[in-house]
Amino acid sequence: MDITIIGSGYVGLVSGTCFAEMGNKVTCVDIDPIKIEKLNKGIIPIFEPGLETMILKNVKNKNLFFTTDLSEALQSSEIAFIAVGTPMGDDGSADLKYVLSVAKSLGQLIQKKIIVVDKSTVPVGTADKVKTTIQKELDQRGVDIDFDMVSNPEFLKEGAAIADFMKPDRVVVGTDSHYAIEKMKQLYNPFCMSRDLFMSMDIRSAEMTKYAANAMLATKISFMNEIANICEKVGADANQVRIGIGSDQRIGYSFIYPGVGYGGSCFPKDVKALTKIAKENGYNAKLITAVEEVNDEQKFVIAQKIVKHFGDDLTGFTFGVWGLSFKPGTDDMREAPAIYVIKELVSRGAKIKAYDPKAINEAKEYYLKEVQNITYVNYKDDVIKDSDALVLLTEWKEFRSPDFEKIKEQLKQPIIFDGRNQYISYGLENKGFEYYRIGKI
Ligand SMILES: NC(=O)c1ccc[n+]([C@@H]2O[C@H](COP(=O)([O-])OP(=O)(O)OC[C@H]3O[C@@H](n4cnc5c(N)ncnc54)[C@H](O)[C@@H]3O)[C@@H](O)[C@H]2O)c1
Repeated sequence: MDITIIGSGYVGLVSGTCFAEMGNKVTCVDIDPIKIEKLNKGIIPIFEPGLETMILKNVKNKNLFFTTDLSEALQSSEIAFIAVGTPMGDDGSADLKYVLSVAKSLGQLIQKKIIVVDKSTVPVGTADKVKTTIQKELDQRGVDIDFDMVSNPEFLKEGAAIADFMKPDRVVVGTDSHYAIEKMKQLYNPFCMSRDLFMSMDIRSAEMTKYAANAMLATKISFMNEIANICEKVGADANQVRIGIGSDQRIGYSFIYPGVGYGGSCFPKDVKALTKIAKENGYNAKLITAVEEVNDEQKFVIAQKIVKHFGDDLTGFTFGVWGLSFKPGTDDMREAPAIYVIKELVSRGAKIKAYDPKAINEAKEYYLKEVQNITYVNYKDDVIKDSDALVLLTEWKEFRSPDFEKIKEQLKQPIIFDGRNQYISYGLENKGFEYYRIGKI
């Protein structure tokens, strides 16, 4: 099948590459000429495990192309995916300007029947807006071209995006077009060979499914963080409680680790957008609002522990930070808890030495660009030397089993603040460390 993917970010690049891997001819389009130039030179603008190899292979096989020219890409395409960003607008709702701008371009450029698939995460009712925008442009051109609208929300996780896309838990397709369902089934069939994972539904339910999924996961995280905060007050241990409740199959172990809160490009904006959608439709989403409030406060819990130990004024103290990205396996720092923790410590006079396997450039060039007093280092051990404490903020694998003796020797004082509860099982308290974590005093 011949496909155009509009928007070559995390979702567009990964889905386009995976479709190409299955033998489709895929053209990824982006308005950012630098991104496209890089891709055409074999330079991959984001870090995602396995992506680079797969892109280079499919470019070589002539299954995968990159361009800024949407018109050219659309010429032979049967399906056009919209995978542009839907960032948080000023009022908290999803900003649809990129999606609707793509819709306008499609209305101006399509020459033959096409299926328009929205893969971006968008509020319920957006497919109707996209349809109206395209139709308006077609009417202005005075042409009668048939097109079908589909909502196909994406559930991939950054850091495991290729694996998630190649082996999805489900493929949700919302449309009222029988033709579009059949085409989408054909496209996704290679990804669902072992069992039928294809779920067709009405378009609004498909749009809502994505928000509901993210809100559920964010709720689990905030719930567990709230339990952890109560544990600290009552002298319980959130980790033991986690094990205790996770063993109940109705609850399960996933997404119930206490920590510094959720971040990333999806949960924060999607949770906010869902409360906004509810409000616009006359419903006060109390639970989902609370999920966000708990998370906003949770980002500061580890900083509060540091302040409790070292005092309000952190002038003269240096903290070694392991991990900047919002989770392991990605260079993405959008809404990463590390941003908040580091800014809080620096605002109190502290100096920071930071290491992350992939996100240092993002931090330097965007997310912590304006923040003074941060030194970035290229090796994780360089963070420890002469720091007053080690602060773990992202649970990258390379931080899992460190040399604690070396850490103890090189830190000025043997203190670890573990924002991800990663070192609980090492019994650091008995190995001469002062060990602080979430959910236990
Ligand atoms: N990142 C994730 O893990 C993830 C997972 C599931 C769903 N989503 C959703 O998918 C959508 C895309 O997210 P992302 O993280 O890939 O975003 P991103 O910011 O990484 O990429 C978006 C890309 O779209 C391009 N773009 C903007 N306007 C364009 C236009 N008119 N024509 C062509 N290209 C254009 C941008 O230049 C950018 O490269 C969002 O709605 C997001 O919520 C993201």
